[in-house]
Amino acid sequence: MRSFGIGLLGLGTVGRGVYRVLEKNSELIAARLGARLEVAKILVRDPNRDRGIPVPPDKLTTDPRAVIEHPAVDIVVEVMGGVEPTRRYVEQALAQGKMVVTANKDLLSLHGKELFDVAAAAGTDLFFEASVAGGIPIIKILKESLAANRIQGITGIINGTTNYILTRMEEADLDFALALKEAQAHGYAEADPRSDIDGLDAARKIAILASIAFNSRVTFPEVYTEGISRIEPTDIKYARELGYAIKLLALAQETEQGLQVRVHPTLVSQKHPLASVRGVFNAVFVRGDAVGETMFYGQGAGELPTASAVTGDIIAAARQLLHGVKGMWRCTCFEQKPLLPIEANESSFYLRLRALDRPGVLAGIAAAFGRHEVSLAAVTQKTTGEVADLVLVTHRVREASLRAAEAELQKLPTVAAVANVIRVLEE
Ligand code: NAP
Ligand code: HSE
Repeated sequence: MRSFGIGLLGLGTVGRGVYRVLEKNSELIAARLGARLEVAKILVRDPNRDRGIPVPPDKLTTDPRAVIEHPAVDIVVEVMGGVEPTRRYVEQALAQGKMVVTANKDLLSLHGKELFDVAAAAGTDLFFEASVAGGIPIIKILKESLAANRIQGITGIINGTTNYILTRMEEADLDFALALKEAQAHGYAEADPRSDIDGLDAARKIAILASIAFNSRVTFPEVYTEGISRIEPTDIKYARELGYAIKLLALAQETEQGLQVRVHPTLVSQKHPLASVRGVFNAVFVRGDAVGETMFYGQGAGELPTASAVTGDIIAAARQLLHGVKGMWRCTCFEQKPLLPIEANESSFYLRLRALDRPGVLAGIAAAFGRHEVSLAAVTQKTTGEVADLVLVTHRVREASLRAAEAELQKLPTVAAVANVIRVLEE
């Protein structure tokens, strides 16, 4: 039986998972593939660190060239993360004609085009299933299974860490910091967890999905992004009382005017399937013109779910090598569609205000909304006292009008604070 050599760049959470899966399922994989997969060399920073797996010490190196240029390495697997020097290593591997597998959304959402160009010039392929939604094979679904469709929209929970935090805050009354610590202990969070909390990781992932779905390159800096750091337990409680869960959603839609790609916390009706996606689970809702609505669900982060996606890519790369097929996955961004600003978005909104608890205050607030043609669907006073919590839900309105009304509210002497403004997902 033929054998293909694997070079791992990184042996952290994901790298260790890949090593484990390749060891544990080696016979099954060999039988399915018709070839063996052997880890030949592994790049790490610290070869003496205890990794909890029995790796022969001579496989570890701190020299990237010992992996990338190793004659027995056919497939380079980048699971070290970060943009530099990772980009250089991936480019070097591709330029040598090696097949490359990566889980790195930071890299792809910034430099995807350059990397695909290098791969095309060298007649090889770059696989990246694990870069979005962990164990859910959403890249393959968009590129292959739904290739006959014009994709109309994607709505997803695609960051495991923030979904885990929001779930623990809601179900176990945990405070934000403790929930984050738990997510880190499980290996879900990025090296710098602000990437998760501030929505950047989800923005990188939706940039990748939107580029594939709409055949038009969307890069990470172009995605409108809000994270979850302003979500307080009070918002979760008030949202629940209104019949909603709060989720960090990533959305990409094609309209006649252009693309809308954004990430922000969102009130999701408890009746919507996305509301019941809990903990580290992700779900991606895709609407295509032929297939209609579809939803894909699975663990979005963590050692083994991510290793499942990476190892699936390794097997796909090896299968191509076995049949002598290289350079078959071309970049599919053959159009250039405009991206719309967030002000063009239309949605209904949840607002939590801190306002004086006196007669006439509500009328003043309603009048401010009215001046900007924002119509209110519900108003509830949640607390009493000198300053009270008011929760308002608007009808569907253009974002620019809502922002103008919010600016006016902030100037009203009766409003102590606009404590939070959160978009509501249309049902
Ligand atoms: P990690 O636990 O921090 O592991 C990174 C590994 O890369 C470590 O083994 C580290 O070596 C090595 N490394 C990093 N920089 C290096 C350098 N400059 N030179 C040599 N070795 C270097 O990270 P991870 O959680 O496995 O994530 C890896 C990638 O997968 C990232 O792109 C991440 O975004 C992506 N991803 C992660 C998950 C997840 O659930 N964790 C899910 C999907 C995608 P040492 O061990 O010696 O420090
Ligand atoms: N930090 C990421 C998450 C890892 O929590 O979703 C998976 O990409």
